[in-house]
Amino acid sequence: MPRPIVIDTDPGQDDAVAILLALGSPELEVLGITTVAGNVPQPLVTTNALKLCELTGRTDIPVYPGADAPLQRDLFTAEYVHGPTGLDGVDLPVPVTTARSKHAIDFIIDTCLAAGPQGVTLCPVGPLTNIASAIAREPTIIPTIREIVIMGGGFFEGGNTTPVAEFNIYVDPDAAAIVFNSGAPITMFPLDVTHKALVLPEDLDRIRAIGTTVGDAVAGMLGFYERHDVEKYGIAGAPLHDPCVIAYLIDPELFIGKACRVDIETDSELTIGQTVVDWWGVTGSEANAMVMSEVDRAGFIDLVVERIARL
Ligand code: BDR
Ligand code: CA
Repeated sequence: MPRPIVIDTDPGQDDAVAILLALGSPELEVLGITTVAGNVPQPLVTTNALKLCELTGRTDIPVYPGADAPLQRDLFTAEYVHGPTGLDGVDLPVPVTTARSKHAIDFIIDTCLAAGPQGVTLCPVGPLTNIASAIAREPTIIPTIREIVIMGGGFFEGGNTTPVAEFNIYVDPDAAAIVFNSGAPITMFPLDVTHKALVLPEDLDRIRAIGTTVGDAVAGMLGFYERHDVEKYGIAGAPLHDPCVIAYLIDPELFIGKACRVDIETDSELTIGQTVVDWWGVTGSEANAMVMSEVDRAGFIDLVVERIARL
C-alpha cells in the first residue's frame, strides 16, 4: 500500500523537484499539496503548485492555498534565489485548473482526523506556518501523524539566510518551535545533509537527456536555480534541499542521521531562527527529532533521474 503523504510547500525549483519526485513514485500517495508563503508570496506559490500538477497531467491532485504570512512576523521571501516567479528557468503555461476553496490548515486537520491505520505523513518543505497552525488549532491530530519530515535548519553547516539560520526556519521560527515541541515524530533534513545532495552539471545532462517535457522543465529550472549557490558557496552544483524529504520516504537507506534534541531560537535578534541541535547529547534532554547528516549522493541522484523519467 502506498504511503499517504501531504506535501506542504512554497515552490520554488527544489520544491518542484520534490513534488515531481513524489508524483513519479508509486510508493507514495499524494493526498494533497498545501501551499505556504515562503520563497515567493501567495498566490504565486499556489499558482506554481497548480502548474506542476498540470505539467505532469496530475490535475487529480488537490491543491490547497495556505498561510500568506508567518504566525507573528513579516514575510521574508527569496526571489534572490528562485527568481520573481519562484519557478524561473522554465515558462510553464498559466494553469487552467484552480486551487480548492478549503484552506490548507483545514485540509491538514481534516486529513489527519480521517487517517486510516497508516496515519498521515506530513512533508513540509517550506516555512512551518501551516503545520504549526494545524497542530495548535487541533492538537488531537498529533497521534494520527505518522511522521513529519521537514526540510529545515542547520547545525555544523550554519545557516543560509543568516550565519546561523536556514531559510524555512528563519521565515517562521515561532511555527517551527510549535512543531518541534509538538511531540509528533519528526525527521529533519538540515543544510548539513542537503548541502551534500548536490545536482552537478553532469546530472543536469542526464535529466536533459530524458527528452520529455517534464525532463526539459526540470533541467531548465535547475539550470536557473544552481547559479545562486554556485556563485554564493563556490560549490559545483545546486543543493536539492526539498527532494531529500521525498527521497527519504522512498528509500530511507540513502540517508544517515542521529536522534537529537532540537530547539528553535525565537527571541535573540542575533540568532533568531537557529536550530539548536544537541548533536552530542550534552543536555541529556530526550530527543525530539531524527536529524539527518549524510546522503548517498549518487544513489539519491539516480532515484531523482529515474523517477523524473517516469513522468
Ligand atoms: C529551503 O529554502 C528554500 O529556498 C528552498 O526551497 C528550501 O526549502 C532551503 O533553505
Ligand atoms: Ca521550499
